[in-house]
Amino acid sequence: MTFPKGFLWGGAIAANQAEGAYLEDGKGLTTVDLLPTGSKRWDIMFGKLPSFQPIEGEFYPSHDAIDFYHLYKEDIALFAEMGFKSLRVSVSWARIFPKGDDKVPNEAGLKFYDNLFDELLKHNIEPVVTIAHFDVPVHLVEHYGSWRNRKLVGFFETYATTLFKRYKDKVKYWMTFNEINMLLHLPFVGAGLVFEEDDDKNQIKYQAAHHQLVASALAVKACHEISPDAKIGCMLAAGMTYPYTCNPDDVFDAMEKDRESFFFIDVQSRGAYPGYAKRFLKDHNLTIEMEAEDEELLRKHTVDYIGFSYYASRATSTDPKVNNMTSSNVFGSIENPYLDKSEWGWTIDPKGFRITANQLYDRYQKPLFVVENGLGALDQLTDDGEVHDDYRIDYMKRHITEMSEAIDDGVEIIGYTSWGPIDIVSASSGEMNKRYGYIYVDKDNEGKGTLSRSKKDSFEWYKKVIESNGEVL
Ligand code: BG6
Repeated sequence: MTFPKGFLWGGAIAANQAEGAYLEDGKGLTTVDLLPTGSKRWDIMFGKLPSFQPIEGEFYPSHDAIDFYHLYKEDIALFAEMGFKSLRVSVSWARIFPKGDDKVPNEAGLKFYDNLFDELLKHNIEPVVTIAHFDVPVHLVEHYGSWRNRKLVGFFETYATTLFKRYKDKVKYWMTFNEINMLLHLPFVGAGLVFEEDDDKNQIKYQAAHHQLVASALAVKACHEISPDAKIGCMLAAGMTYPYTCNPDDVFDAMEKDRESFFFIDVQSRGAYPGYAKRFLKDHNLTIEMEAEDEELLRKHTVDYIGFSYYASRATSTDPKVNNMTSSNVFGSIENPYLDKSEWGWTIDPKGFRITANQLYDRYQKPLFVVENGLGALDQLTDDGEVHDDYRIDYMKRHITEMSEAIDDGVEIIGYTSWGPIDIVSASSGEMNKRYGYIYVDKDNEGKGTLSRSKKDSFEWYKKVIESNGEVL
């Protein structure tokens, strides 16, 4: 195992899945606060929103989540006990600008993140901060149409700039948009997009994507100016697509599926719309409205590193008879007969992790940061309060092994923050029972439980991994 010295081992969470306290200390409503559990959740995630307010009788898991807002010190102490070198968190936009278009930021919100970052630094844990992780202030959705509107670029720039100025002495690793390519698959989650019946969804999605890409470039610019020693990256929901057969049609289809995602990172990292994207837009009669300075902004302000999540690979076929679909990290995929699946149908493919890392490094030649990876599973608590999660240890072990192989292949990887080191609300299903943590949280899908924290078997295991810098798996 050849993990570099100073490798940033740690974990990753997001504000909306962990903090709770959804209206406390002046926070405004965000898009995630309108996502209930159950089947309606999916309709909304695809862009069909029934109301700009929570509806009585529905259960909204983000409202209280695991109460990280109040319990963060206790949780960080546990992360420190595991030896974390980094913790990836996100800032909730609506804690800082409750409506999104406010003239002045909310001091109580800013103070919360000051305290959070101070607590991390006290334990020598590097904060890795995502500026937008699947949340948009609801006011911006209701009054501006969210990212379909160019005005969001300015609001985001103000928000990001406020963060860089305030936290420049505390935060050295930033990311602009979490899984920016998710916008095409779950448009409400990725960009707060809500559609009318006769909307041209693709047109709106790609226009919103352009706005996020310009906003991301402006954030990179501001970060480099305000905090020159900080690094700022993009964040891709990665996982390569395999052709189901060696039929060139399947191979081409797989390449195109990957390009749907690479499009975003090609712009953020190489600084321009690639030729294949221009052709795609033309072939689909999509016209992106750009301002005169956009192309130059994109070209000049590219990211410093490539952050990515990896849970699963995907497979695709052009043969209509091959239609055994599964959902790998919510990307539709053909089932791969060579691979197992998680209890939620996500393909388990450690070798795909190595391939994906190689592919990204070959393409961008910039440091990679693995900012999400892990297994969502149904954990059973024994009578004496233990969780024997050997399946999770096995998943992590196999993935970390492949990551080290990628490093030996010459891929520069600066850190690994596994997803949900403490159980949090699932982004896709809203369940608590889809657990990723080394730390168990006593809370169920209906919101019942004491919120007490306890260590799973994987806790001691991950601690040893970090202690040995990946030597002992
Ligand atoms: C990623 C997201 O897509 O996957 C996280 O960035 C999310 O927010 C994670 O939680 C795992 O997905 P899920 O649906 O199992 O929580």
